[in-house]
Amino acid sequence: MDATNNALYLRPNIVAEPLIDGWYAWTHLIPPATAARNVTERHLKIMESYLECPEAHDAAVQDAAMAGGPYMHFDRNREGDVRALRDRTLHDRKDLIELSRAIEKLDELLRAKAKGFSLDALYAEVPPCLQGMVEIVYDLNNQPSFRLIEPLLYRSPLYSDAFQSVMLSVISADDRPFVMSTPRLEKGNAIQLQIPFASERYDQLFGMKRQPASFEAMRDMLELNDEDASLFRTFLTTELPPPYVNYNGPGARWRYFGHACILLETGGTSVLLDPVLSYTYESDISRYTYDDLPDVIDYVLITHNHQDHILFETLLQLRHRIGTIIVPRNGGGALQDPSLRLLLKQCGFRNIIELSEMEEIDFGHGSITAVPFLGEHADLNVLTKAAYFVRLANHKLLFLADSCNISPKLYEHIHRELGDADAIFLGMECDGAPLSWLYGPLLTQKLERAKDQSRRLAGSNYDRAIGIVEQFNCKEVYVYAMGQEPWLNHVMGIKYTKKSNPIIQSTRLIDTCRARGITAERLFGEKEILLT
Ligand SMILES: [Fe+2]
Ligand SMILES: [Fe+2]
Repeated sequence: MDATNNALYLRPNIVAEPLIDGWYAWTHLIPPATAARNVTERHLKIMESYLECPEAHDAAVQDAAMAGGPYMHFDRNREGDVRALRDRTLHDRKDLIELSRAIEKLDELLRAKAKGFSLDALYAEVPPCLQGMVEIVYDLNNQPSFRLIEPLLYRSPLYSDAFQSVMLSVISADDRPFVMSTPRLEKGNAIQLQIPFASERYDQLFGMKRQPASFEAMRDMLELNDEDASLFRTFLTTELPPPYVNYNGPGARWRYFGHACILLETGGTSVLLDPVLSYTYESDISRYTYDDLPDVIDYVLITHNHQDHILFETLLQLRHRIGTIIVPRNGGGALQDPSLRLLLKQCGFRNIIELSEMEEIDFGHGSITAVPFLGEHADLNVLTKAAYFVRLANHKLLFLADSCNISPKLYEHIHRELGDADAIFLGMECDGAPLSWLYGPLLTQKLERAKDQSRRLAGSNYDRAIGIVEQFNCKEVYVYAMGQEPWLNHVMGIKYTKKSNPIIQSTRLIDTCRARGITAERLFGEKEILLT
């Protein structure tokens, strides 16, 4: 055996896209019920629309104003491939299509027959594939709804990991197409690993970013055919990755990796918030990447279940390095609010902790407290959301992600309990997409346009943000999570100009803070701060 073949690393510019049925695996595509609704109401509809008029899709993706819209983004005509995927979906995912129709029928049943009287008799009318998988209930105002028994759905044939794969290819620039509307069709120079996400084989593969292995061992483990094996060999290198030096200085250090992804280190403990990472390649925009993480990440914190905050692509590649993953506690069974704990467990993650509002974890050199997060979910009852108040040595940092200060009194209560924050990190995507952009496939009745437009995934504007800054007597204010880093384009679909409202509002916040002697900045690309 060639000696160099024994000590190979996975190149840092190999993109690994988790896919389900060829669609990018964002977190609503993993739980069976949200997956079912996205298959029928997003994927099949987009595919039909493309097949009817591919030119319209071509034109729309050239238009920046249409970024993030339901248009397929291909570099050439792929009608044949899309038709094949559509036909395969109709054939292979009959069970999910049936589940989606069953959810519609259950909603119809509740609208027609749940009128305030006992619901017992309705159980016999629950569509067959949902029987035994739901509880139907009223709220105290006699509004009917249902909750899904998610653990049973995952254990049923409705959850099949046979459709899961990871596509490996080389990435050299930030221009990835918007993945929620564009499937990843088979292409040259890519390897599709038909291996379920839960498999430990991925941990060995992604472990090769820092731990060398032999080509032959990896080829055999991944069961690559000759063609894929020779391509895979080009994805490996003998070049050692740059060594990571943990921060062992006084106090603490934080590093901004883009969007809401921040690494905290203190006293030998590392905490990574909302992991969304760039691969390593030449670019004009300097950034931290996968190469700039410790070998062990003690805690990963997830703020909420939006694809720019829980990016499955990044998490899967970090799984083997994560000590404990902290997710917000879930309400249990609402279609729009799948459990992140169950989802991650199903995908092979270990040591998942759900934190409830105001619950704390102490890690010796600091602590993490989950803080209530209101808004930014189009007024849907979604409980899987938390901001985090993190104490590091003597420093107190408040990570608010996309929390929208719609109820200022909340922060009075939080401040009374936790005291001042030295620094806050606040998302100010204050226009936000309408409800239908993310949650539309889950609705079984059309929402009037005016209502849809009024209910948005919007964070705090200037007035709301300055209220939080004042409440916590912050010395430093960082606007983040703005979707500006181009390596997030594939999940964000946001393109700002200087005239965009979130830019105007956040600039005003920064100017006001600076005028008051508060350090303030809109983070972009990378940033490092030492808290000594
Ligand atoms: Fe969000
Ligand atoms: Fe966000």
